[in-house]
Amino acid sequence: MTIMKHFLRFADLDKNELNYIFNLTKEVKTAFKNLKKRETLQDRHLVMIFEKSSTRTRLAFELGMNQLGGSAVYLNTKDSQLGRGEPILDSARVISRMCDLVMIRTFEQEMIETFAKHSSVPIINGLTNQHHPCQVLADVFTFIEKKGSIQGATVAWIGDANNMCNSWIEAANVLGFNLNISSPPDYAPDILSTSENVKFFSVPQEAVEKADLVTTDVWASMGFEEESKSREQAFKDWQVDESLMALTSKDSLFMHCLPAHRGEEVSAEVIDGIQSVVWDEAENRLHVQKALMEFLLLGALD
Ligand code: CP
Ligand code: NVA
Repeated sequence: MTIMKHFLRFADLDKNELNYIFNLTKEVKTAFKNLKKRETLQDRHLVMIFEKSSTRTRLAFELGMNQLGGSAVYLNTKDSQLGRGEPILDSARVISRMCDLVMIRTFEQEMIETFAKHSSVPIINGLTNQHHPCQVLADVFTFIEKKGSIQGATVAWIGDANNMCNSWIEAANVLGFNLNISSPPDYAPDILSTSENVKFFSVPQEAVEKADLVTTDVWASMGFEEESKSREQAFKDWQVDESLMALTSKDSLFMHCLPAHRGEEVSAEVIDGIQSVVWDEAENRLHVQKALMEFLLLGALD
Protein backbone atom coordinates (compact mmCIF):
# COMPACT_ATOMS: atom_id res chain seq x y z
CA MET A 1 0.00 0.00 0.00
CA THR A 2 1.41 3.40 -1.03
CA ILE A 3 1.69 6.07 1.69
CA MET A 4 -0.15 9.24 0.64
CA LYS A 5 2.25 12.04 -0.32
CA HIS A 6 1.58 15.68 -1.08
CA PHE A 7 3.75 17.94 -3.25
CA LEU A 8 3.33 21.29 -1.50
CA ARG A 9 6.95 22.38 -1.88
CA PHE A 10 10.00 21.04 -3.67
CA ALA A 11 11.55 19.62 -0.50
CA ASP A 12 8.53 17.32 -0.01
CA LEU A 13 10.30 14.85 -2.29
CA ASP A 14 13.70 13.34 -1.56
CA LYS A 15 16.50 12.78 -4.05
CA ASN A 16 15.49 9.18 -4.84
CA GLU A 17 11.88 10.15 -5.43
CA LEU A 18 12.95 13.04 -7.66
CA ASN A 19 15.27 10.84 -9.69
CA TYR A 20 12.44 8.32 -10.05
CA ILE A 21 10.18 11.12 -11.37
CA PHE A 22 12.85 12.40 -13.78
CA ASN A 23 13.34 8.88 -15.21
CA LEU A 24 9.59 8.41 -15.47
CA THR A 25 9.29 11.78 -17.23
CA LYS A 26 11.69 10.53 -19.89
CA GLU A 27 9.42 7.48 -20.48
CA VAL A 28 6.26 9.59 -20.49
CA LYS A 29 7.79 12.06 -22.96
CA THR A 30 9.06 9.34 -25.29
CA ALA A 31 5.61 7.72 -25.39
CA PHE A 32 4.02 11.12 -26.15
CA LYS A 33 6.51 11.89 -28.94
CA ASN A 34 5.91 8.46 -30.50
CA LEU A 35 2.13 8.89 -30.31
CA LYS A 36 1.95 5.86 -27.98
CA LYS A 37 -1.06 5.71 -25.66
CA ARG A 38 -0.11 5.61 -21.99
CA GLU A 39 -3.32 5.34 -19.99
CA THR A 40 -1.96 4.59 -16.56
CA LEU A 41 -4.50 6.78 -14.72
CA GLN A 42 -7.76 5.46 -16.15
CA ASP A 43 -10.76 6.33 -13.96
CA ARG A 44 -8.62 8.71 -11.89
CA HIS A 45 -9.91 12.25 -11.53
CA LEU A 46 -8.06 15.48 -10.82
CA VAL A 47 -9.64 18.66 -9.44
CA MET A 48 -7.75 21.86 -10.27
CA ILE A 49 -8.42 24.95 -8.12
CA PHE A 50 -7.19 28.22 -9.60
CA GLU A 51 -7.29 31.44 -7.57
CA LYS A 52 -4.80 33.06 -10.01
CA SER A 53 -4.45 33.04 -13.81
CA SER A 54 -2.61 30.30 -15.70
CA THR A 55 -1.84 29.04 -19.19
CA ARG A 56 0.92 26.42 -18.82
CA THR A 57 -0.01 24.92 -15.46
CA ARG A 58 -3.65 24.44 -16.38
CA LEU A 59 -2.91 23.00 -19.82
CA ALA A 60 -0.22 20.67 -18.53
CA PHE A 61 -2.43 19.27 -15.76
CA GLU A 62 -5.69 19.10 -17.73
CA LEU A 63 -4.24 17.69 -20.97
CA GLY A 64 -1.83 15.53 -19.00
CA MET A 65 -4.61 13.89 -16.97
CA ASN A 66 -6.68 13.32 -20.12
CA GLN A 67 -3.70 11.79 -21.94
CA LEU A 68 -3.18 9.42 -19.01
CA GLY A 69 -6.76 8.19 -19.38
CA GLY A 70 -8.24 10.17 -16.48
CA SER A 71 -10.14 13.44 -16.31
CA ALA A 72 -9.68 16.92 -14.85
CA VAL A 73 -12.20 19.41 -13.48
CA TYR A 74 -11.43 23.14 -13.33
CA LEU A 75 -12.65 25.24 -10.39
CA ASN A 76 -11.96 28.90 -9.79
CA THR A 77 -12.70 31.21 -6.90
CA LYS A 78 -15.29 33.23 -8.80
CA ASP A 79 -17.58 30.37 -9.80
CA SER A 80 -17.25 28.12 -6.77
CA GLN A 81 -18.14 28.44 -3.09
CA LEU A 82 -14.43 28.97 -2.37
CA GLY A 83 -14.92 32.62 -3.32
CA ARG A 84 -17.93 32.96 -1.02
CA GLY A 85 -16.17 32.09 2.19
CA GLU A 86 -16.74 28.34 2.55
CA PRO A 87 -14.04 27.28 5.05
CA ILE A 88 -10.97 25.71 3.45
CA LEU A 89 -11.17 22.67 5.68
CA ASP A 90 -14.80 22.01 4.65
CA SER A 91 -13.89 22.47 0.96
CA ALA A 92 -10.94 20.11 1.39
CA ARG A 93 -13.09 17.39 2.96
CA VAL A 94 -15.80 17.66 0.29
CA ILE A 95 -13.61 18.02 -2.80
CA SER A 96 -11.22 15.25 -1.79
CA ARG A 97 -14.13 12.80 -1.29
CA MET A 98 -15.06 13.16 -4.96
CA CYS A 99 -11.68 12.85 -6.70
CA ASP A 100 -8.26 11.20 -6.54
CA LEU A 101 -5.95 14.19 -6.70
CA VAL A 102 -6.16 17.98 -6.21
CA MET A 103 -3.97 20.73 -7.66
CA ILE A 104 -4.20 24.22 -6.16
CA ARG A 105 -2.88 27.60 -7.38
CA THR A 106 -3.43 30.25 -4.75
CA PHE A 107 -1.90 33.12 -2.79
CA GLU A 108 -0.69 31.95 0.62
CA GLN A 109 1.14 28.66 1.17
CA GLU A 110 -0.83 28.33 4.41
CA MET A 111 -4.02 27.80 2.40
CA ILE A 112 -2.72 24.68 0.64
CA GLU A 113 -1.18 23.39 3.85
CA THR A 114 -4.56 23.67 5.59
CA PHE A 115 -6.26 22.07 2.59
CA ALA A 116 -3.76 19.19 2.61
CA LYS A 117 -4.27 18.60 6.32
CA HIS A 118 -7.98 17.96 5.75
CA SER A 119 -7.74 16.18 2.40
CA SER A 120 -8.08 12.45 1.90
CA VAL A 121 -6.16 12.62 -1.43
CA PRO A 122 -2.74 14.02 -2.47
CA ILE A 123 -2.44 17.79 -3.01
CA ILE A 124 -0.12 19.41 -5.57
CA ASN A 125 1.06 23.02 -5.34
CA GLY A 126 0.40 24.66 -8.73
CA LEU A 127 1.97 27.94 -7.43
CA THR A 128 1.64 29.97 -4.27
CA ASN A 129 3.25 33.30 -3.34
CA GLN A 130 5.99 31.29 -1.63
CA HIS A 131 6.65 28.26 -3.91
CA HIS A 132 6.33 26.99 -7.49
CA PRO A 133 7.67 23.44 -7.23
CA CYS A 134 6.12 22.01 -10.45
CA GLN A 135 7.96 24.63 -12.52
CA VAL A 136 11.32 23.88 -10.92
CA LEU A 137 10.68 20.16 -11.44
CA ALA A 138 10.31 20.88 -15.18
CA ASP A 139 13.35 23.17 -15.15
CA VAL A 140 15.63 20.63 -13.50
CA PHE A 141 14.36 17.93 -15.88
CA THR A 142 15.10 20.26 -18.83
CA PHE A 143 18.62 20.86 -17.54
CA ILE A 144 19.22 17.10 -17.16
CA GLU A 145 17.82 16.51 -20.65
CA LYS A 146 20.22 19.06 -22.16
CA LYS A 147 23.33 18.44 -20.05
CA GLY A 148 23.02 14.88 -18.71
CA SER A 149 23.13 15.76 -14.99
CA ILE A 150 22.66 18.70 -12.64
CA GLN A 151 25.10 17.28 -10.09
CA GLY A 152 27.97 19.74 -9.61
CA ALA A 153 26.42 22.30 -11.97
CA THR A 154 26.02 26.00 -11.09
CA VAL A 155 22.65 27.70 -11.50
CA ALA A 156 22.34 31.50 -11.25
CA TRP A 157 19.05 33.03 -10.13
CA ILE A 158 18.86 36.70 -11.12
CA GLY A 159 16.05 38.91 -9.79
CA ASP A 160 13.22 38.68 -7.29
CA ALA A 161 13.58 36.20 -4.44
CA ASN A 162 10.04 35.02 -5.20
CA ASN A 163 8.20 31.69 -5.32
CA MET A 164 10.47 30.41 -8.12
CA CYS A 165 13.61 31.40 -6.25
CA ASN A 166 12.42 29.63 -3.09
CA SER A 167 11.76 26.43 -5.03
CA TRP A 168 15.23 26.70 -6.65
CA ILE A 169 16.76 27.00 -3.15
CA GLU A 170 14.96 23.84 -2.05
CA ALA A 171 15.98 22.04 -5.25
CA ALA A 172 19.64 22.98 -4.70
CA ASN A 173 19.48 21.68 -1.14
CA VAL A 174 17.79 18.39 -2.02
CA LEU A 175 19.70 17.65 -5.22
CA GLY A 176 23.04 19.16 -4.19
CA PHE A 177 23.91 21.54 -7.06
CA ASN A 178 25.28 25.09 -6.64
CA LEU A 179 22.88 28.02 -6.66
CA ASN A 180 24.07 31.64 -6.91
CA ILE A 181 21.39 34.25 -6.21
CA SER A 182 21.52 37.95 -6.94
CA SER A 183 18.60 40.27 -6.11
CA PRO A 184 18.21 43.99 -5.37
CA PRO A 185 18.70 44.74 -1.64
CA ASP A 186 15.00 44.90 -0.70
CA TYR A 187 14.07 41.80 -2.69
CA ALA A 188 16.68 39.31 -1.47
CA PRO A 189 15.77 35.99 0.22
CA ASP A 190 15.18 36.31 4.01
CA ILE A 191 16.87 33.15 5.00
CA LEU A 192 19.24 31.75 2.46
CA SER A 193 20.00 28.27 3.67
CA THR A 194 22.36 26.53 5.95
CA SER A 195 24.12 24.81 3.09
CA GLU A 196 27.37 25.87 1.46
CA ASN A 197 26.07 25.41 -2.07
CA VAL A 198 23.57 28.31 -1.98
CA LYS A 199 25.25 31.72 -2.11
CA PHE A 200 24.06 35.31 -2.35
CA PHE A 201 25.77 38.00 -4.48
CA SER A 202 24.94 41.70 -4.36
CA VAL A 203 25.71 42.14 -8.08
CA PRO A 204 24.40 39.89 -10.88
CA GLN A 205 27.77 39.90 -12.70
CA GLU A 206 29.33 37.92 -9.85
CA ALA A 207 26.42 35.50 -9.54
CA VAL A 208 26.54 34.43 -13.20
CA GLU A 209 30.29 33.89 -13.33
CA LYS A 210 30.87 30.36 -14.72
CA ALA A 211 27.16 29.52 -14.37
CA ASP A 212 25.83 26.61 -16.44
CA LEU A 213 22.30 27.96 -16.28
CA VAL A 214 20.98 31.49 -15.82
CA THR A 215 17.35 31.84 -14.88
CA THR A 216 15.08 34.72 -13.96
CA ASP A 217 11.42 35.67 -13.61
CA VAL A 218 9.13 38.69 -13.76
CA TRP A 219 9.90 41.66 -11.51
CA ALA A 220 6.32 41.74 -10.16
CA SER A 221 4.66 38.36 -9.59
CA MET A 222 0.91 37.77 -9.56
CA GLY A 223 -0.54 39.51 -6.53
CA PHE A 224 2.24 42.14 -6.49
CA GLU A 225 1.15 44.11 -9.57
CA GLU A 226 0.58 47.34 -7.66
CA GLU A 227 4.30 47.42 -6.82
CA SER A 228 5.22 47.30 -10.54
CA LYS A 229 6.43 50.91 -10.75
CA SER A 230 8.72 50.81 -7.73
CA ARG A 231 10.00 47.38 -8.74
CA GLU A 232 10.91 48.64 -12.25
CA GLN A 233 13.30 51.08 -10.60
CA ALA A 234 14.73 48.62 -8.10
CA PHE A 235 15.32 45.81 -10.64
CA LYS A 236 16.68 47.81 -13.60
CA ASP A 237 20.27 46.57 -13.10
CA TRP A 238 19.10 42.95 -12.82
CA GLN A 239 18.13 42.39 -16.46
CA VAL A 240 19.56 39.23 -18.04
CA ASP A 241 21.09 40.53 -21.27
CA GLU A 242 23.87 39.46 -23.61
CA SER A 243 26.59 41.15 -21.55
CA LEU A 244 25.54 39.13 -18.49
CA MET A 245 25.31 35.88 -20.48
CA ALA A 246 28.84 36.54 -21.81
CA LEU A 247 30.21 36.02 -18.26
CA THR A 248 28.73 32.53 -17.89
CA SER A 249 30.35 29.19 -18.74
CA LYS A 250 30.63 28.12 -22.38
CA ASP A 251 27.36 26.53 -23.64
CA SER A 252 25.35 27.84 -20.69
CA LEU A 253 21.56 27.78 -20.88
CA PHE A 254 18.91 30.41 -20.20
CA MET A 255 15.53 29.55 -18.62
CA HIS A 256 12.42 31.53 -17.70
CA CYS A 257 9.22 29.99 -16.34
CA LEU A 258 7.12 32.36 -18.53
CA PRO A 259 5.21 34.57 -19.07
CA ALA A 260 8.20 36.89 -19.74
CA HIS A 261 8.56 40.63 -20.25
CA ARG A 262 11.17 41.30 -22.93
CA GLY A 263 13.12 44.47 -22.13
CA GLU A 264 12.51 44.07 -18.36
CA GLU A 265 13.90 40.98 -16.60
CA VAL A 266 15.34 39.61 -19.88
CA SER A 267 16.40 41.12 -23.19
CA ALA A 268 14.78 39.88 -26.40
CA GLU A 269 18.25 38.81 -27.66
CA VAL A 270 18.66 36.41 -24.75
CA ILE A 271 15.17 34.89 -24.52
CA ASP A 272 14.97 34.51 -28.30
CA GLY A 273 18.66 33.57 -28.65
CA ILE A 274 20.43 30.22 -29.02
CA GLN A 275 21.11 29.70 -25.31
CA SER A 276 17.42 29.97 -24.44
CA VAL A 277 15.56 26.70 -23.79
CA VAL A 278 12.30 28.30 -22.66
CA TRP A 279 10.07 26.45 -25.14
CA ASP A 280 11.43 23.03 -24.13
CA GLU A 281 11.05 24.13 -20.52
CA ALA A 282 7.38 25.00 -21.10
CA GLU A 283 6.67 21.74 -22.96
CA ASN A 284 8.34 19.75 -20.20
CA ARG A 285 5.69 21.01 -17.75
CA LEU A 286 3.35 18.54 -19.47
CA HIS A 287 5.66 15.55 -19.25
CA VAL A 288 6.96 16.17 -15.74
CA GLN A 289 3.48 16.79 -14.30
CA LYS A 290 2.19 13.57 -15.86
CA ALA A 291 5.07 11.72 -14.20
CA LEU A 292 4.37 13.51 -10.90
CA MET A 293 0.67 12.54 -10.99
CA GLU A 294 1.58 8.91 -11.77
CA PHE A 295 4.05 8.89 -8.89
CA LEU A 296 1.59 10.41 -6.39
CA LEU A 297 -1.25 8.08 -7.41
CA LEU A 298 0.56 4.83 -8.22
CA GLY A 299 3.74 5.15 -6.14
CA ALA A 300 7.15 4.13 -7.40
CA LEU A 301 6.62 1.10 -9.66
CA ASP A 302 9.48 -1.19 -10.70
N1 CP B 1 5.04 29.12 -15.66
C1 CP B 1 3.75 29.01 -15.32
O1 CP B 1 3.41 28.52 -14.26
O2 CP B 1 2.88 29.47 -16.26
P1 CP B 1 1.33 29.71 -16.07
O3 CP B 1 1.17 30.87 -15.11
O4 CP B 1 0.85 30.05 -17.45
O5 CP B 1 0.68 28.48 -15.54
N1 NVA C 1 6.66 34.38 -10.08
C1 NVA C 1 5.61 34.37 -11.05
C2 NVA C 1 5.55 33.04 -11.73
C3 NVA C 1 4.48 32.92 -12.78
C4 NVA C 1 4.40 31.56 -13.38
C5 NVA C 1 4.29 34.66 -10.35
O1 NVA C 1 4.08 34.18 -9.24
O2 NVA C 1 3.48 35.41 -10.91
